[in-house]
Amino acid sequence: MVDEMVKVLVVYDTKYGNTKLVAEKIVEGISEVEGVETAISDVEEVNLEKVADYDAIWIGSPSHIGISARSIRKFIDKLGKLDLKAKWVAVFDTNFGGPNFEKAVKKMEKRIGEKVPRLKLMISGLSIKVGGMKGPIVEGELPKCKDFGRKIATQLKT
Ligand SMILES: Cc1cc2nc3c(=O)[nH]c(=O)nc-3n(C[C@H](O)[C@H](O)[C@H](O)COP(=O)(O)O)c2cc1C
Repeated sequence: MVDEMVKVLVVYDTKYGNTKLVAEKIVEGISEVEGVETAISDVEEVNLEKVADYDAIWIGSPSHIGISARSIRKFIDKLGKLDLKAKWVAVFDTNFGGPNFEKAVKKMEKRIGEKVPRLKLMISGLSIKVGGMKGPIVEGELPKCKDFGRKIATQLKT
């Protein structure tokens, strides 16, 4: 049984492409871990019937006025109504930072705790900085995404 594949689904929303890039880098990190299989999907295209087949679900969003995008909030709410096999969840966001800008990850974690209590957080959410509303991702941030993917995929296997 130890050889069985662990299946991870990475779902993201993106307005300008930055969060998509973060999701892709996370998947790159995951794919370095043997025995872990991934699928990646834009939240608008996610197949809800298939979501129940995964062992872990990772969710990413741009920070919009301190919370996740509406599509991501709706997705989290829908997860709460599914008969999920998954036990594990992790979140990530992109954010502009700065004194008046809140990050979305904490709110996402809170919402998951309220709406999908069966999912346990694997790790504290990853926040990635962008240089402006439309990006680009700040230098030095992308390697963190790959590390994050590799780290939690390894955690899933042990
Ligand atoms: C309507 C709107 C609200 C935003 N609010 C925040 C915010 O509260 N905190 C923050 O750090 N960044 C904020 N930003 C900047 C976004 O985080 C940034 O556009 C996003 O990370 C880019 O990711 P994307 O390319 O995946 O859309 C906001 C951007 C938009 C368009």
